[in-house]
Amino acid sequence: MSRPTGSERMLRPVGDEPGELLHVAIIMDGNGRWAKQRGLPRAFGHRAGVAALRRTVEGAEALNVERLTVFGFSTENWSRPESEVSEILGLMKAYFASDLARLARDGVKVRIIGRREGLAPDILAIVEEAEARTAMNDRFHLQVAFNYGGRADITDAARRFAERVARGEACPQDLTEQLFEQQLSTAPAAAPDLVIRTGYERRLSNFLLWECAYAELIFQDVHWPDYGPEHLRAAIQEFQSRERRFGRVAVDDVLAAG
Ligand code: FPP
Repeated sequence: MSRPTGSERMLRPVGDEPGELLHVAIIMDGNGRWAKQRGLPRAFGHRAGVAALRRTVEGAEALNVERLTVFGFSTENWSRPESEVSEILGLMKAYFASDLARLARDGVKVRIIGRREGLAPDILAIVEEAEARTAMNDRFHLQVAFNYGGRADITDAARRFAERVARGEACPQDLTEQLFEQQLSTAPAAAPDLVIRTGYERRLSNFLLWECAYAELIFQDVHWPDYGPEHLRAAIQEFQSRERRFGRVAVDDVLAAG
């Protein structure tokens, strides 16, 4: 894919040509600081974060993104104060209670990635209902990383393969990258093309570590509660101006070398 110039840099529909943007992943950061700046408890930041999520999901659907993965709650987030953990869990339940009918009606397939073991029955019920009610959809894919950590997911994948070996169903030499990634909780979805992080930090924070190997990273200096379709559109425009080489050399350099 060569670097677009001039008018080609304008946003165009995505997802219908090879090399175009299919999968966007977002680290929604800055809820707490947004609230603090306003002299509000952190819970208000998370509540405003759900509204931003709703706007952004609708924006991604309108921009012809095929799949959106958001980092809702990490395996490390359990170490936050109990009141904050229960606020976030409550918001996730409330989000699906209020939005699931719309998502199901509009062809959105919901998938929750991350560890399910040990989740409270009410959370598990929400997760299973969201997936079951949208299972037949495929217009747009919404993946919510919940109780998710990249290292935990890779470790679980390794354990699953080791268990297959122990049962005599596979040999260590069978293991390839393709086979390994089939064990990840994101399988069989393609890896993200673009990872966006809000909230003024420049790190991945254990998000989709395996899957992000060749993702374009874009950091947007906005707290998550202020995020919306216009920010997503700007990130996609920046993505479209980049050349993805996947470890190869640029097309222009190949031509110049004869
Ligand atoms: C990061 O901000 C945000 C989170 C850890 C939670 C994100 C949760 C939501 C948007 C609401 C519920 C989720 C779903 C999927 C409906 P932070 O608290 O780390 O902010 P800070 O870095 O400013 O403290």
